[in-house]
Amino acid sequence: MNDQSPHEDLAAASSTPLVALITGASSGIGEATARRLAREPGAQLVLVARREDRLRKLAETLPAQASLIAVDLTAEDAPARVLEHVCSHHGRLTLLVNNAGASWRATFAEGGYANVRRTMEVNFDAAVRLTEVLLPLLRACAPSAIVNVSSTAGRIARPGAGAYSASKFALAGWSDALFAEERPHGVHVGLVLPGFIATEGFPASELTARRATRWMVSTPERAAEAIVDAGLRRKPERHVPRPYALAGMARLLAPGLVRKVLAGRGASVFTTKTGADAADRR
Ligand SMILES: NC(=O)c1ccc[n+]([C@@H]2O[C@H](COP(=O)([O-])OP(=O)(O)OC[C@H]3O[C@@H](n4cnc5c(N)ncnc54)[C@H](OP(=O)(O)O)[C@@H]3O)[C@@H](O)[C@H]2O)c1
Repeated sequence: MNDQSPHEDLAAASSTPLVALITGASSGIGEATARRLAREPGAQLVLVARREDRLRKLAETLPAQASLIAVDLTAEDAPARVLEHVCSHHGRLTLLVNNAGASWRATFAEGGYANVRRTMEVNFDAAVRLTEVLLPLLRACAPSAIVNVSSTAGRIARPGAGAYSASKFALAGWSDALFAEERPHGVHVGLVLPGFIATEGFPASELTARRATRWMVSTPERAAEAIVDAGLRRKPERHVPRPYALAGMARLLAPGLVRKVLAGRGASVFTTKTGADAADRR
């Protein structure tokens, strides 16, 4: 157990305090990450999501200086607006957490390219576009870090979640390359792969409703701690809960068997409805 503030590791090399931007800060893992990072000494936070009222309420309750920008990250001008906001309100950036994301359940035959495209736009393209505009600032403020929030679905794909898995596999692959590319520039790139975490967007109520499967579901606070590990403690990769790493290993070691299991009827236990599905129905 390390009871030293993780930012002190970074602070040893950089005399300036943490300035962290968290996308998807209006709920779930992003909100928990904002609350966790706000406890770092001298932290300044930039909260990003579409729902301004949520961001404002959160900013008011945080024990740290926090600014907010309400923006749809898939919008054409979103990266430029966020960059302008960071420069004018903070002038620096030492941690970027690309966390915003969503999942719409559909088989490929039902959802087609339209579903793949909308999923890629928010889960992959938006993170890449935001990173592109903020990277020069992160380099200038090095030592600094980027944390990309992928998923266990970025290692193993379930029926009905192909579009989501495609976006999260893409994010994981891109993160590996970026890790190596940015290392010489002092920008660490960490990857976080959550399993089932009960949030508004991913309630996992099918699993929490049953005693036999409740243990599979973790909390946004634990995911936030994994983001701290990957960002401030500069770990390359964190699964949360940690045993979910075994799913990816099984996929590599026995792809045929894993495919058969996931195509079978027993795999329906892992099928969960998402907040985005519910929003679509409304
Ligand atoms: N919970 C899980 O089981 C789980 C598992 C694996 C991976 N993940 C990943 O963890 C991340 C956080 O998910 P969560 O579970 O915390 O879900 P959540 O509670 O639904 O949070 C998603 C966040 O993303 C924001 N967002 C969505 N679309 C956006 C857009 N176009 N522009 C700006 N912000 C947008 C939402 O805010 P607004 O609606 O206010 O814009 C919200 O703050 C996602 O990338 C998700 O894929 C979650």
